[in-house]
Amino acid sequence: MPVARGLEGIVANSSRLSEVIGDKGQLIYAGYDINELAGKVSYEEVVYLLWNNKLPNRRELEDCRDTLRSQRQLPQGVLDFLKSAPKNAGPMDVIRTAVSMLGLYDENLDDSSPERNKDRARSITAKIGVIAAYFHRARQGKELPPVREDLGEAAHFLYLMNGEAPAQEAADTLDVAFVLHADHGTNASTFSARVTIATLSDIYSAITSAIGTLKGPLHGGANEGVIQMLEEIGSEDKVDAYIEDALAQKKKIMGIGHRVYKTLDPRAPHLQKMAMKLSAQLGDPKWINMSERIAKLMKEKKNLNANVDFYSATVYYSLGIPTDLFTPVFAIARCSGWCAHVLEQLEDNRLYRPLSEYVGEPVGKKVVPLDER
Ligand SMILES: CC(C)(COP(=O)(O)OP(=O)(O)OC[C@H]1O[C@@H](n2cnc3c(N)ncnc32)[C@H](O)[C@@H]1OP(=O)(O)O)[C@@H](O)C(=O)NCCC(=O)NCCS
Repeated sequence: MPVARGLEGIVANSSRLSEVIGDKGQLIYAGYDINELAGKVSYEEVVYLLWNNKLPNRRELEDCRDTLRSQRQLPQGVLDFLKSAPKNAGPMDVIRTAVSMLGLYDENLDDSSPERNKDRARSITAKIGVIAAYFHRARQGKELPPVREDLGEAAHFLYLMNGEAPAQEAADTLDVAFVLHADHGTNASTFSARVTIATLSDIYSAITSAIGTLKGPLHGGANEGVIQMLEEIGSEDKVDAYIEDALAQKKKIMGIGHRVYKTLDPRAPHLQKMAMKLSAQLGDPKWINMSERIAKLMKEKKNLNANVDFYSATVYYSLGIPTDLFTPVFAIARCSGWCAHVLEQLEDNRLYRPLSEYVGEPVGKKVVPLDER
């Protein structure tokens, strides 16, 4: 049987949640093209869409918002952990640990009924942003602002991170970024979540797996790599030489290329537009100019396109989000998608168990006694 390295081209499950059409550069959430949703609906509407297979009416949206907002308070044990975690710990490591800890404070962990799992999905989705922002405050020795119920998910994250409510435009920008990141077919972290829950483990374990998977630089970690690369390059006039050199050394350029999209990543133009607007407002076009040059060179030289992480990096940077919170921001938005996939997997579960091609020594070897080896 031929080996599908990296499971490329393998259809591992059916899903009603999202479709990534690589050759058309199209992303669909439950029947809606991402270009139809972005800018027209809030992140909470997308959460409802993913969890209920339809956009909410006004009352349903209010219920969904109220439920998420009422779930923001963290258990004391998790708060204590966030305050006592090493200040130099990676935020993704802290979030992974804290989400795992939430399971310890679930008094009905043995109850795996669909209703309880939906409650857990709401609880984790509501808390993951609080966890990320609180760790950021705690590592700076700052107080943890009390959670509020009058702000949407994106605005509330910025409020907790900065200790004050954000400007409407900043909240709206992050909200669109959340919409664009909420789901994406069977990407690596979502697959991790589905593999974990398919063993009939619990939802906390599944989301913990997903966070650990998203962390890697070939997946969610790429957005942090983009800013690190821009900082390393330093100025626009050094871009060409940097790319030339990196490609000669067969280094990957972060934020470029995609396993499925071989044309456009449809999320990138939305983030590109936001990055340009924010950079112009800040009067600091350096990052976006450098980014545009990198994207152009990579298209010319390798026929590779910018992906979602490429411009989200400049958007987050312009919003004043520290670089090591870029991947956490991705995790906060994707958490709703992970939960939707976990719930969907449980609706019609089958254990994931692929095969591997054995390339080890031929069978038949005899055990040599320990002292004679
Ligand atoms: C996303 C990614 C992991 C997809 O990987 P993949 O489908 O396994 O593709 P491959 O790594 O096999 O790449 C295929 C070819 O394109 C090249 N390539 C792909 N992405 C590249 C990049 N970012 N920079 C330079 N070359 C790249 C590879 O070197 C390879 O070239 P070759 O055939 O000459 O050896 C890959 O494009 C990548 O590492 N990108 C950077 C990280 C990133 O932005 N990740 C976020 C994804 S949303």
